[in-house]
Amino acid sequence: MTTVQDQTPKQAESMYVPEPAKIVSMTKLTDMEMHYKLRLPEGRPLGHQPGQFVQVSLLGVGECPISICSSPTQGDTFELCIRRAGRVTERLHQLSEGDTIGIRGPMGHGFDVSEMHGKDIVIISGGLGMAPARSLVQYILDERSRFGRFFLLYGGRTPEELLFKEDVVRWRESDAVDFHVTVDRPDKGWRGKTGVVTTLFKELPKLDPAETQAVIIGPPIMFKFVVLEILSRRIPQSNIYCSLERQMKCGVGKCGHCQANNVYVCQDGPVFKYAQLKALRESVE
Ligand SMILES: Cc1cc2nc3c(=O)[nH]c(=O)nc-3n(C[C@H](O)[C@H](O)[C@H](O)COP(=O)(O)OP(=O)(O)OC[C@H]3O[C@@H](n4cnc5c(N)ncnc54)[C@H](O)[C@@H]3O)c2cc1C
Ligand code: FES
Repeated sequence: MTTVQDQTPKQAESMYVPEPAKIVSMTKLTDMEMHYKLRLPEGRPLGHQPGQFVQVSLLGVGECPISICSSPTQGDTFELCIRRAGRVTERLHQLSEGDTIGIRGPMGHGFDVSEMHGKDIVIISGGLGMAPARSLVQYILDERSRFGRFFLLYGGRTPEELLFKEDVVRWRESDAVDFHVTVDRPDKGWRGKTGVVTTLFKELPKLDPAETQAVIIGPPIMFKFVVLEILSRRIPQSNIYCSLERQMKCGVGKCGHCQANNVYVCQDGPVFKYAQLKALRESVE
């Protein structure tokens, strides 16, 4: 994984100095979320791991952390899914294809994919958590032979709020992933499952706890209940990954904004093992 300490000088510079990235395409996913495909100068790869994030900046407006929602296996572009939340993200939604934004990173620790090789993978994702989850999902699908069975459980509040609907259709039809999706509040057109994401656990076959790696990415309330389901299946705490969101400023372990107990989420996370996260209990409650 890339942190300030273990980067080459050129990479380390990109942790502090924003690089221009051109917006190749912008697609509206929902009323709140926009999907961006971006390219660095000369098509240079971002060099990220699934689960990492970048600091996105607009000159004269500000900067904010955003998860990378595409896999490093997807070529010379990378993708972000940005929810309109405030000052910076509102302005990002007003941009157009061909415009340039600033990118610092990739930042933090993502998923240790090599530790997942050869294992069965269960990813449980909810809401905007599907953005970082999608990077790992794409990675597993692109490197499918390296993994065992692959289960993906996705929960959204409403059908409209589900992200990456084209992927959802593809995953539903794919033999490469055992995919299940549910919504809390269906609309008239919804033909799928209804209920919170934990109701999808009944779709899972018997898992071999030692051979299974579980990944939970979603809002804190979802995390609380999903982790109980996972632990009830006797999956060891060291086989459970979680991604944690904290308010951030610098992204490089200097300002302390993201500190939770004795860790800086921007550097030590955002991806943690559950065993580590238990010590940071206040962060998920
Ligand atoms: C590691 C990480 C990854 C993230 N990935 C994504 C992503 O993939 N897509 C995405 O849309 N957003 C993501 N976020 C959240 C995103 O950074 C915030 O929504 C953004 O900073 C808001 O900036 P703003 O200037 O638009 O809003 P502001 O004007 O700064 O704030 C708007 C409101 O959002 C609140 N807020 C700001 N940051 C956060 C936060 N981190 N958590 C909760 N509330 C916050 C503020 O308190 C305020 O109420 C991520 C955050 C982190 C830390
Ligand atoms: S955001 Fe500054 S220390 Fe983590």
